[in-house]
Amino acid sequence: MQESKNKFYVTTPIYYVNAKPHLGHAYTTIAADVANRFRKVKGFDTFFLTGTDEHGDKIVEAAEKNGIKPKEYTDQISKLFSDLWPNISIENDYFIRTTDEDHKNIVKGILQKIYDSGDIYFSEYEGLYCKGCERFYQERELVDGLCPDHKKAPEVIKEANYFFKMSKYQNWLIDHINQNEGFIRPARYKNEVLSFLKEPLEDLCISRPKTRLTWGITLPFDENYVTYVWFDALVNYISALNYPGDMFNKYWSSVQHIVAKDILKPHGIYWPIMLKSAGLPIYNNLNVHGFWNIGKEKDKMSKSLGNVVDPGHMVEKYGSDQFRYFLMREMVFGLDANYSEEVIIKRINSDLSNDFGNLCNRVFSMTHRYFEGIVPEKSDQIEESNNLSLDQEKNEMIDAYLKEMELFSFHKGLESVWVFIRRMNKYVDEKAPWTLAKESKTDQLSCVIYNLLEGVRVVAGLLYPVLPKSYVKIMDMLGLTESTNLFEIEKIKFKDFLVSGNKINESEILFPTIEEEKVEEKKQSLAKLKNLKDEITYEDFMKIDLRVGVVTHAEPVKKSDRLLKVKVDIGEERELVAGISKSYSAEDIIGKSVVVVANLKKAKIMGIESNGMMLAASEKKNLTLITLDKDVKKGSQVA
Ligand code: ME8
Ligand code: MG
Repeated sequence: MQESKNKFYVTTPIYYVNAKPHLGHAYTTIAADVANRFRKVKGFDTFFLTGTDEHGDKIVEAAEKNGIKPKEYTDQISKLFSDLWPNISIENDYFIRTTDEDHKNIVKGILQKIYDSGDIYFSEYEGLYCKGCERFYQERELVDGLCPDHKKAPEVIKEANYFFKMSKYQNWLIDHINQNEGFIRPARYKNEVLSFLKEPLEDLCISRPKTRLTWGITLPFDENYVTYVWFDALVNYISALNYPGDMFNKYWSSVQHIVAKDILKPHGIYWPIMLKSAGLPIYNNLNVHGFWNIGKEKDKMSKSLGNVVDPGHMVEKYGSDQFRYFLMREMVFGLDANYSEEVIIKRINSDLSNDFGNLCNRVFSMTHRYFEGIVPEKSDQIEESNNLSLDQEKNEMIDAYLKEMELFSFHKGLESVWVFIRRMNKYVDEKAPWTLAKESKTDQLSCVIYNLLEGVRVVAGLLYPVLPKSYVKIMDMLGLTESTNLFEIEKIKFKDFLVSGNKINESEILFPTIEEEKVEEKKQSLAKLKNLKDEITYEDFMKIDLRVGVVTHAEPVKKSDRLLKVKVDIGEERELVAGISKSYSAEDIIGKSVVVVANLKKAKIMGIESNGMMLAASEKKNLTLITLDKDVKKGSQVA
């Protein structure tokens, strides 16, 4: 099936709600958003789907751990995903949850269809089950007896269940993959699936007895069972289109799935066979990317390994366009990439601030300096006779960009734009507008500035899918309003779009450089805890008697610029000496609720007996008293 002419339907995996979203989820969702925005600017009618996968063992387990019911738990976590997306400029058209009633009914319909076609049978089974993956493993798929993803030994489970006759479709699937170029792409993943299909394909267990699991969709043909979570989850791609309604007819034939390699098998094998068995058209393409790894050992970033980076945090720290750019530029789609804060800072400083931001600054400020902010007139004749054109490089760049973005090669698409950005920076140096100005070569100067403004406009338009916020800012700086926006790639290519005589606006710094000092600070926050003391036991810790108290009196200790004499009411009055007067004056602390070490041996400090110690956090030489964020009775114990 060909991608139909002017529709585009893109999906992400629906994420499990057993933990908060992390950078890996953000990557896939941003990739889908970029692909979608790219089609939108080309004038496609698009539909972008993401959502959450909410049934199964794993979810029940996570809810239990949190001491709440599965429904309440899934509501909470699903919201973390749907709330995160707008913060990174994700413009999904729909957010599906597998606990939605509509979805459940459509899953039942598909199950019944497959059951009626005779492809589901009942049988006893014993197998190796990985809870993390929610699936049975074959011996040969394990690495040293462990699940390759979760690094845990699977459990042996024996029970009577329903099975889906996947084996029947093995040869059909091999042919389908071979006959449809790029069905699974990049090719390394197609090869992986084909090599898996060289061995006989086992039938898939698609039910779980309710005696073991009730958090799922009941089988329409046996109410003692719920359906296997993957059978439920994969159907989301059509239930979100309200199969078999109009939306399905409109968008399904243009579907593009994006997933990471961890779920290649369900998407590359189960899903096409499910569609085939249910008599539905097979999806167009499965686009598979690698893992974000982290740390020295280059472990996969994953919630089960607990080494995750919080996307919300990254956006706050670096900005959402910056975060999107980094993810799209750094990872070669299909291969693994390594995450570190050093790499993101480097990308922001070199590509965004130094190359692109700097180019914009130079071009806008020269337009203000030499032309009072008016787009100058350009003469084609002057351009030609002085060899000032950038058209060839610009058009080559646009063609390369369009080709790569089409194929989900975001990193290459961006690189081709950066080749042109660097070319423009060089053009500024070569043509030296300041010299042209000094020599009053106004015709040439006009042409150079016009070409640069036009180049910035084109680049901004091409970068829109990745940098949507910066795009709006640049259009504004160019004095172009949304109504004259350049959302269509064809218009971006249209030669010399900017109108001479129009006024541009004041410019602003688009991508502030992250200073070295901050780089150090940021690195520090990643480093291991410094000066960690020797381990103590719980019993050791419990020897310390910590009490809540209120400061009733404080005065400076004479002849000391560091000490305060303090009275604290911890249910009895204590007088103590505290070395905090560099951070607090006596008046500052009166009335504060503090925590006091109540059984510390008395000590004489500057002649005063100190009977206790207030807790404070120290950061270099600054001290901050530990106070309480609610009212607590004086003398209460702290542990
Ligand atoms: O598998 N690097 O959900 P999930 C790159 N519910 N991408 C990563 C990643 C990493 N380190 N970690 C996660 C499920 N991802 C099922 C899917 S679909 C019908 C059901 C991304 O929460 C990547 O897209 O484990 C991966 O495929 C997905 O999150 C797995 O999400
Ligand atoms: Mg997973």
